[in-house]
Amino acid sequence: MFKTVRGMRDLLPVDAEMMRHVEMVSRTISKLYGYEEIITPVLESYELLAAKTSEEIRERMYTFKDLGDRKVALRPEFTASVARLVVNKLKNEPQPMRLFSVGSLYRYDEPQYGRFREFWQANYELFGSDRPEADAEILILTNNILKNLGLKNYRFKVGHTGILRGILTQEGLDDSQQNSVRQLLDKKLWAEALDIAREADISQKGLETLERLLETKGEDALQVLSQIRECVKNYENALDAVDNLWRILELIKGSGTHLEVVVEAGFARGLEYYTGMIFESYVPGLDIALGGGGRYDKLIELFGGEPIPAVGVAQGIDRIVLALTKQKVSQKTAKENSVVVISVKNECMAKALELSNLLRKVGLPVEVAVMGRSISRALADANRRSAAYAVIVGPKELEEEKVVLREMKKGTQQTVLISGLTEAILSGSE
Ligand code: HAM
Repeated sequence: MFKTVRGMRDLLPVDAEMMRHVEMVSRTISKLYGYEEIITPVLESYELLAAKTSEEIRERMYTFKDLGDRKVALRPEFTASVARLVVNKLKNEPQPMRLFSVGSLYRYDEPQYGRFREFWQANYELFGSDRPEADAEILILTNNILKNLGLKNYRFKVGHTGILRGILTQEGLDDSQQNSVRQLLDKKLWAEALDIAREADISQKGLETLERLLETKGEDALQVLSQIRECVKNYENALDAVDNLWRILELIKGSGTHLEVVVEAGFARGLEYYTGMIFESYVPGLDIALGGGGRYDKLIELFGGEPIPAVGVAQGIDRIVLALTKQKVSQKTAKENSVVVISVKNECMAKALELSNLLRKVGLPVEVAVMGRSISRALADANRRSAAYAVIVGPKELEEEKVVLREMKKGTQQTVLISGLTEAILSGSE
């Protein structure tokens, strides 16, 4: 018997429906904020995907040679593909450009709760603005999605790559040393990160600043930022970063959006392309990020385009589904006004098919009983399928242009005129 490949999943109808629900809400939000959808290939050149991701992702990409001897890989994220598209085909478009993508991604991670080798993201990228209102938009949009989905008590971990970068650059660490420090911090290996800094001959003052910085975090965002400000006062670029993050959070607050934010000075994301504000979203009891993003102002340039600043976020659809399930958030499903049409006798079947089309025309989801079962067994099956209504089409009622409409949950039924059937269902399901 064939099985799925290790780390790959089949999504059964209940899971698929939840995934599509999250996708639908994400898509609706993309439209409300003016993000236009683009579709890029699952397969890209290895070099593109490897360019500015992280050591970890580079090692975990599904990489192979195609039959034309090209080194290719399955995309582990969207940002590189979207940036490639912007450089190749959209560089002359008026800015800002807001682009939305949704689809599957591949990382050869060790399968565990919330970590899959094939997973889904809803991804938003905003190109052309280096201003704090663009960063604020990405955070507010993410808040909007999680709120609309009905998640509770979610919070944002927020930081700024410029704080660490400002210190490390002034202390003379090169890009690759800085990347190593960031990767270790991303894995919360603080002592090891400090070791790298020591090995790179960071000054005593620099080391003390880092040590103090890593302990600076808290929920009163503006207060934490003041502490960070004090801590990095000798590092000019780090100070600019603190002010930038301050402005972003101030804008969000001023807009009336209440975000639960934890500011963490030592927060680092693994991906190498970030240059500014970074963030991740979480729910209590689930120690994995539901989504993450940030500002990356140098990627387009790196891919050979004119410099275009950018900020974006990817919502992890699979993990959002886990969070919804954990919080027992029920979603309104299509099943709520779904109908099963049952024909009592063979000679009524054509009419049953005709009526099922009539109901679908007004947007009702309809299944026709196609197994030739008795009425009672067909009704039992309709119950099992959580149908809201059964329409029973029998010869006696048809003579009077009528059918039986049964409300499955209540177990009540009435004979209604066919001309009033859709009306009866729609008014009942309001
Ligand atoms: P990321 O943090 O690598 O960022 O992924 C974003 C989200 O995708 C994660 O927070 C998580 O929910 C989900 N995710 C990642 N890996 C897995 C996995 N193995 N299994 C299940 N879910 C996973 C990025 O991908 C950036 N491209 C985000 C971005 C867009 N930054 C700027 N624009």
